[in-house]
Amino acid sequence: MNNHIHQYLDYIQKIGDRKDLYKVVADKFNITRALYPGSHIDISPSLVIPDVTYIDNYKGAIQFFDNLEPIVDYVNQKKDYDGTCHISFYGKSYDDDLELAKVDLIISQYAGFVGQSTKRYLKEEGILLCNDSHGDATLAFLDDDFEFIGVVDANNTIISDDLDKYFQFARRRDIDIEKVKQTMKGPKYKHQAPNYLFKYKNTH
Ligand SMILES: C[S@@+](CC[C@H](N)C(=O)[O-])C[C@H]1O[C@@H](n2cnc3c(N)ncnc32)[C@H](O)[C@@H]1O
Repeated sequence: MNNHIHQYLDYIQKIGDRKDLYKVVADKFNITRALYPGSHIDISPSLVIPDVTYIDNYKGAIQFFDNLEPIVDYVNQKKDYDGTCHISFYGKSYDDDLELAKVDLIISQYAGFVGQSTKRYLKEEGILLCNDSHGDATLAFLDDDFEFIGVVDANNTIISDDLDKYFQFARRRDIDIEKVKQTMKGPKYKHQAPNYLFKYKNTH
C-alpha cells in the first residue's frame, strides 16, 4: 500500500474514523461539494462527498497532498457514491482570500475559528458542521449569519429537537465571547454534543 494511504490510515486510527459522521451529514443535506479548512490529512470526507477542497498550512499536510494520485486512487476504490471524486488542496491559511466556488458544507474539526473565517465560501442555506473544541460552535451559535439547526450525537445520529438546552450553563449566565476568542476553548455547558450543525443565512 502507498505511503500516503498508510499515513492516512494511521491517522484515523489515532483520531477516530469520522466517515460515518460525514456520511450522515452529507446524506441528510444532499451535500455534493464541501470545504475542509484545517483538515490536516483527514481525507475521510472524500469517501462520502464527491467534491472536497482541503486547506491546511502545516508542512506535513502540504507534503501529504503534494501527490494527489494515490489519494484519488484510494478514494475511487473506497467511495460510497457514483462517479469520480474531485479533490483539491490549498497549502495556505484558511484566512487567506482564496478563489473558491461556494460549497454546500464546511467541516470544522479542532482547527480554530474555521466557521467564522470561511463562512463566506458557504452557499446560502449551506451547512457548517463543527465541534466546540476551540469554541467554533459557540461563535456560530452567537453569530446572526448562522441558525443552530441540530447536533450530531456520539452514535452519529442527527438530533434536531430540544435544541434549547445546548449552549446553556448549569447556573444561568451569558457566554463570554471575548474569553472564548482569547482562550480558543469552548465553554463547559450543561449539555454538550460531539458536533453541532448550523445553517448559513447571510445577513449582509
Ligand atoms: C488539531 S489539527 C486537526 C486536524 C483535523 N481537522 C482533524 O480533526 O483531524 C488542526 C489543523 O488545523 C490546521 N490549521 C490551523 N490553523 C490553520 C489556518 N489558519 N489555516 C490552515 N490550516 C490551519 C493545522 O495546520 C492542523 O493541521
